[in-house]
Amino acid sequence: MVRPTDSYTTEPHRVDPPTQGADFVVVANRLPVDRDTSADADPADGPVWRTSPGGLVTAVMPVMRAREGAWIGWAGTADELFDPFDLDDMHLVPVRLGTEDIHNYYEGFSNATLWPLCHDVIVAPEYHRTWWDSYVRVNHRFAARVALEAARGATVWVQDYQLFLVPQMLRAMRPDLRIGFFLHIPFPPWEIFSQLPWRSAILRGILGADLVGFQRPADAANFRRAVRIKLGMTTKDDVIRIPAVPGTDEDDPGTPIRYAVARHFPISIDTADLEAQAADPATIARAAQIREELGDPRILMLGVDRMDYTKGIRHRLKALEELLGDKRISNEDITFIQIATPSRERLDEYQQIRTDVELAVGRINGEYSSLDNQVVHYFHHSYPREEMTAFYLAADVMLVTALRDGMNLVAKEYVACRTNNDGVLVLSEFAGAADQLRQAVQVNPHDITGLKDAIQLATEMPLKEQRKRMKPMRAKLGHENVQAWSQEFLDALDTVADTQDELSERLHDRRG
Ligand code: ADP
Ligand code: F6P
Repeated sequence: MVRPTDSYTTEPHRVDPPTQGADFVVVANRLPVDRDTSADADPADGPVWRTSPGGLVTAVMPVMRAREGAWIGWAGTADELFDPFDLDDMHLVPVRLGTEDIHNYYEGFSNATLWPLCHDVIVAPEYHRTWWDSYVRVNHRFAARVALEAARGATVWVQDYQLFLVPQMLRAMRPDLRIGFFLHIPFPPWEIFSQLPWRSAILRGILGADLVGFQRPADAANFRRAVRIKLGMTTKDDVIRIPAVPGTDEDDPGTPIRYAVARHFPISIDTADLEAQAADPATIARAAQIREELGDPRILMLGVDRMDYTKGIRHRLKALEELLGDKRISNEDITFIQIATPSRERLDEYQQIRTDVELAVGRINGEYSSLDNQVVHYFHHSYPREEMTAFYLAADVMLVTALRDGMNLVAKEYVACRTNNDGVLVLSEFAGAADQLRQAVQVNPHDITGLKDAIQLATEMPLKEQRKRMKPMRAKLGHENVQAWSQEFLDALDTVADTQDELSERLHDRRG
């Protein structure tokens, strides 16, 4: 039989709930910690763990600590399988990825197909059938692991684009579960999403969830439109009607009509925790020390990103270089720190962006630095949380110039740390955070002239104006924090799932 491209087959199997499972399960590609394989991690001490990169982990970790449950994910290394373990009040269940899985599922389909597809095709997505086959296999592995860990009737929260197929696979294995899905990155318009050869399978995969969460209203609207166009399903507001599928024989009851809800739940940060860290005298002293070591610049500007082509690092360096060239800012006044965490380093596009950034930094410093004034300080490392907070506290201006970003937690972290209500956030309108941080100096990073004006405005902004903008943003993050985000999502999931129960009961009554 010829199998159409836009479908897949996996062994269908029902799984019995475990006798002692978790009532709350988070499943994400990565665990919140990676196995540290660096030279200073002594293997004789057993595996050493360090925090994994990215906003997903920053946001979901405090949620997980507060609710007892299990987090299922990959430990960041190839071919190693670890037993489940407890760390920092979290129960972690590792899933193994082999070298080929990393190449095809993680680097390939997740990060060279879906990632660029969902970020405005800033680089061209690649479509390879071997990558897709691997994506299906690995999603099935994650779903099977969840099916073994989740207690009867448990809530399972599936995270992000690496696991688009898990909701549907899991529903087939464990129809008793409440399944939520949250997409941390943008969902593209149909005109772009429709390039994907496996678009129906992905849409159906996501629709295995009762509740599908997105960062921005436009992402949710794009998803519902794709479902209408490609799957022919009807939607009303944020509700999607999923038609019944008849069973194939008397052992297979088929699936009843269901409703899923797709809407936006903008993610946020642990504001109170960051504020407390920023108010800590040790952090304040460290921030002062950072400024002193830099020669006490009049204005310290900061950029913090994963080294990713979506973050617009090149654009901000170009604007900075031109401002220096035009003598609209002076190297005597301004110091810029760019922190870029290593990310997806084996992919060509990521090697390219690193090369481009490093060339630009070298060029700017070569042209505009002097013995006592280095204009750009560039660091390609990860830092502990306390050190990141000290950088936020030290910086007068924060540059977030993403070309496309689901949310951008860095922008929110900077605001939360400005406990004196001073400082200026320059924020791309293409980051989800722009919806909440309305008083930031908003920019279109493609418009270099506009970006230069915004940076200059930020460096010259009077303190009174800084405070007028910063105060309402801080107040907003005070209540729109990550605790509220997770509570709202999980409450909505319960509501949708309870409505489903009633619906299927009513269907049953009618049949009986
Ligand atoms: P993304 O999820 O695309 O990486 P976000 O801005 O939403 O982008 O989240 C990035 C997270 O990673 C933030 O919590 C930020 O503080 C953290 N982070 C970024 N760079 C570093 C670094 N060099 N060291 C430690 N943490 C970092
Ligand atoms: O939300 C963005 C995100 O892609 C997460 O899904 C991911 O864990 C993180 O950024 C970092 O990327 P990676 O896991 O590929 O290092």
